[in-house]
Amino acid sequence: MPPAEFQRLGRETSDWIADYLASVRTFPVFPSLKPGSIRDALPAEAPDFGDSMDEILADFRSVVVPGLNHWNHPAFYGYFSVTASGPGILGEMLTAALNVNAMVWRSSPVATELEDVTTDWLRALLGLPQPFEGVINDTASSSTLYALAAARGVAYPEVQEDGLFGLPRGRVYASEQAHSSVEKAVMAMGFGRRGYRTVPTNSRFEMDVDALSETIRRDVDEGVRPVAVVATLGTTSTASIDPVGEVAAVAREHGAWLHVDAAYGGPAAMLPELRSRFAGWGEADSVVVNPHKWLFTPIDCSVLFCRRPDELVRAFSLVPEYLSSSEAASARSLMDYGVSLGRRFRSLKLWFVLRYFGRQGLVARIRHHIELARELASWIEAEPGWSVLAPVELAAVAFRYTSEAGGSHTDELNHAILERVNASGAAFITHTSLNGQTVLRVAVGNIKTTREDVEQLWTLLREVAESVEAEGAGAASTGS
Ligand SMILES: Cc1ncc(COP(=O)(O)O)c(C=O)c1O
Repeated sequence: MPPAEFQRLGRETSDWIADYLASVRTFPVFPSLKPGSIRDALPAEAPDFGDSMDEILADFRSVVVPGLNHWNHPAFYGYFSVTASGPGILGEMLTAALNVNAMVWRSSPVATELEDVTTDWLRALLGLPQPFEGVINDTASSSTLYALAAARGVAYPEVQEDGLFGLPRGRVYASEQAHSSVEKAVMAMGFGRRGYRTVPTNSRFEMDVDALSETIRRDVDEGVRPVAVVATLGTTSTASIDPVGEVAAVAREHGAWLHVDAAYGGPAAMLPELRSRFAGWGEADSVVVNPHKWLFTPIDCSVLFCRRPDELVRAFSLVPEYLSSSEAASARSLMDYGVSLGRRFRSLKLWFVLRYFGRQGLVARIRHHIELARELASWIEAEPGWSVLAPVELAAVAFRYTSEAGGSHTDELNHAILERVNASGAAFITHTSLNGQTVLRVAVGNIKTTREDVEQLWTLLREVAESVEAEGAGAASTGS
C-alpha cells in the first residue's frame, strides 16, 4: 500500500473510530439478524485480484457493522461488560503497526521489558507483594492452564520426563461457582474430569472452606494427591469472592498450589474500601487478572502473576537452537512462560491505559460501576415480584422476576424477558443458573455507562416483564 494511500485511509479509519466511539449509543446493542445471514452476504471465495480499500471499507460499514453485538455500548451488560478505552485502542493500533514478536528479548527488547514494567506497575496497584512476577497472555483460560501446569510440575516432579502415566491420581479443587476454564485446564493437563472436584458454596456463593478441607482430607486418605486449589475473586455468575485467606491456609496445609482466579474481580483490589476482601491473595502461588475485563483495555490482555515463576518456566521452557541467545541470562524470554512462541506486544496498550487514567482514574471508574450495580440491586429488591439472588459485592447483579403468576413457568418467563430485552436493541443482558433456577445477570463495566442508562434498563426490564407476562409468553415458550 503506497504511503499516501495509507495516510488517507488511516485518517479516514481513525475518524471512523472516533465517530463510532462518540455515537456508539445510537446503535442497537444487539443486531436483529438470523444466524448465517452474514455468511450469505459475503462471497464464498477470496478475490482473484485485490479489491480496493474503499470497497473493503464500504463492506465493513454495510456488512460488518450491522453484524456487531456492540461490546463498547454503554447498555451492554452481558457476560462481564468491558471497555476498549481511547488509550487502549491507540495502543492496540500501534501494536498492529509495529508488528513485533516478543518471543525472546532479542526478537523485541522493548516488548519484553515493557511487559516487565507494566505488569509490575499493575502488581503494585493491586497490592500484590513483590515476589509476584507478571506475564501477559491472551486470556484467563490460558493463564489458568499455565498456572495449573506449573502446579502439576510441583506435585509430580517426574512429570516433565515421564508424563503422568502410572502415577497416583491428582486432583484440583475449586468452588462450584468457579469458571469452566478451570475444569477445562484440568482436562487439558491429563488429569481427566475425575481430576477435578468442586466444593459447595455458602448462601453467598462463596467457597465453603470447611467442605474444601474435608474433601481434600478424604482424598488424601484415599491416596489422591491434592495438586492445586483455585479460589475465585469475582465469580462469573454473581461476582462472589471466595475467602482466599482461609483457602490459602487449607492449600498450605496440604502442600497444594493456590491459584487465584481474579480475572474479573482483580481490579477492585485497587479500591481501599475493598482491599480487605482480597486479604490473603498475596499468599497464592499464582493469580490471574484480566485487564481486558475491568481495566479498560481492549481484548486480549490477561496478566498471570506468579510467585514461583521458575516453576512456570520449568513447565514450559524448551529452547530450540535458533532461539537461543546470549541475553537469556539477563532478560526474560517470554516464550518460556507458556505454550505460545509468538506473542503480541500486549503491554503497550496496558501501559497506555495505566498511564492515561492513573490509579485515581481507574479507582473512580471501578467504584462508580459498583455504585451503579448496587443502586440497580436496591431498585430490584424494592419492587414486588422481583428479587436479587446474591449479594452485590462487585458490579454484577443476579436477579429474577418471580411473579406469583409465573408459578412453575418462572424460568421460562425469565428466559423470555432476556430474549425480549436483547431483541429490543436497547440493552444486552445474559443469564445464569443459581440453585437450579434461571437468573438474569446485569454486569456494569462500560466506561460510558451512566446512572441514566441503568435507570432506562430498569424501566425496560419492568415493561418487558409486564408485557411478557400479559401475553403468557413465558409459558408459551415451553409449549405448555
Ligand atoms: C471468573 C472468570 N474466570 C475466567 C474467565 C475466562 O476468561 P477468558 O475469556 O479470558 O479466558 C471468565 C470469563 O468470563 C471468568 O468470568
